[in-house]
Formats: sequence, C-alpha cells, structure tokens
Amino acid sequence: MTLDAPRLVHAGRSVAEIYDYGAHLWRWELDGEAVLWTIRQTSTEHGKPLRGGVPICWPWFGPGRSGDLTPAHGFARISDWTLTEMVESSNTTALTYTLRPVDAPQALPGCDWLVTYEVSVGDSLQLTLTVSNVGEVAFSYELALHTYLAVGDVRHVSVAGLDGAAYLDKVTGRRERQTGDVTITAETDRVYDRSGEVLVSDPERGRRTRISTQGAANTVVWNPWIAKSRAMPDFGDDEWTGMLCIEAGNVLENAVPLGPGDSRSLSYAVEVAVP
Ligand code: BG6
Repeated sequence: MTLDAPRLVHAGRSVAEIYDYGAHLWRWELDGEAVLWTIRQTSTEHGKPLRGGVPICWPWFGPGRSGDLTPAHGFARISDWTLTEMVESSNTTALTYTLRPVDAPQALPGCDWLVTYEVSVGDSLQLTLTVSNVGEVAFSYELALHTYLAVGDVRHVSVAGLDGAAYLDKVTGRRERQTGDVTITAETDRVYDRSGEVLVSDPERGRRTRISTQGAANTVVWNPWIAKSRAMPDFGDDEWTGMLCIEAGNVLENAVPLGPGDSRSLSYAVEVAVP
C-alpha cells in the first residue's frame, strides 16, 4: 500500500511536509533552502521506513539493547499516527500527533502507553516527544529523534559541542573520547554520552545550525560514507556527501524506565544562523 501524500505546511519563512505515517517530518525549508536532508528516492510503501527528515526511533534504537530486535529503530516510524491538533498562527504552525498501543500493538506488548509528538515549524523547528505510561505495568524504552541535516559537503562540516564527551564508536565497537570538534573523514556512527547543544558549521552553505535538546542523554552522529551507502539499496552512491544525522536520544544504558503514571519528554530544536 502506497502512503498518502504528506501534509504541506507554510509558516512564515518556512515550508514543511509531514507524513501522518511515522509522524515523520519529511521536509523543512527556510527561505527556500532545505535544512533537513531527504533522499532522492525513498520507499513510500506502508511498512517500510522513509529515509530523511526526522524519523522517530521508538521504543528501541537500532536493533535495541539486546541487539536482535526488529524492525530496526522500532515501530514508531512505520506506524500510522493520529493528528489530534493543528494550530496555525502568523509565523508558526504547530501539529500534535499521538500514537497508542492500538496503532503499534507489538511495540511494548502488555503495556499501556501514549506517545505525544508536538511539531512546531516556523523560523525555527521545535520537536517535543512525550512518552506516558498510562497503564499499571512499568516498562522502559529507547528513543531517538533521528534528524537528517542537509549539508553542503559533509567532509567540510564541523560539529562543536561534543569536545571531551565519551562515545561508543559503533563502527569499531570501541569506547572513545572526543577531542575538539567532530569532523567526518570516514564512516561515522557514534553514540555520545552528552546532549544539550551542538553547533554545526557548514562553510559550503554559509550557515551554522544550532541544535538544542532537553531530556536527552545521548547525541548520535551518523554518516555512512562511501562503502556503506553503496551497500544500502536506497542511497544513491554520491548522496552521503549531502547529509549528516545529528540525533538526540536516550539509548543503550540510557534507556528510560517509566513507572505507572509517569511521563518523560525529549525536545529537539533547530535554529539556522548565517554567520
Ligand atoms: C543510525 C544508527 O542512527 O541510523 C546507524 O546509529 C544506522 O547504525 C542508521 O545505520 C540508519 O538506520 P536505518 O535503519 O534508517 O538504515
């Protein structure tokens, strides 16, 4: 089954597209320039993930803590969410989506939960995802907002804000510590033990992108580089140069335990500045 077209939103200087499928923010452009990256050809088939924009990884990240869960990155990105509210003001449009067990029954079997996702597009982008335990059984989950940023050439981009942070290098399996800014010189797949604020400097596009997060323990930095993108059926061979994922999450040992009646939010904001 092919997906319905995404919703088109115009708000101030920005244009956005968002699919109800996955509550997936697919496009966000500011003054006609793409801030988020989207692949040239993505699957638009129900049951398959979209590549680009902001996929939601929940209730696990990658193959999960046990390393053997499917689908990769959980059910949220391949489930139909419900748009419960859309509020338009002069420069901002705010959409609220919800996901419940009836929409993704295999996500946390035996548990009762509510996920609420607020997307506000305008001159900046504000995303807030809240997980509530509305049942009587405790559970835990991993979460990531898997943002794909559009960059001029990833080989010339630098990411400030992670100096001194410990990270798991998922390419080598080793734990390391960041020195200075992050630059991309090979396949990069890192889970940093820090979140908060990072600044992405992109000389080719002549802009700096500030990412601010709250409620996240981890920043994930991902670029597949040459060989991995060739091995991925959807990636065009040259497309890896134009993207960099800067994800905010609570993954691996930072999975979130949630008792009955508890809620926890994660926020992710993007602002673009021309230096
Ligand atoms: C990143 C992971 O978040 O997502 C990578 O750290 C993974 O390991 C990447 O390859 C893309 O995942 P997917 O399932 O969208 O191809």
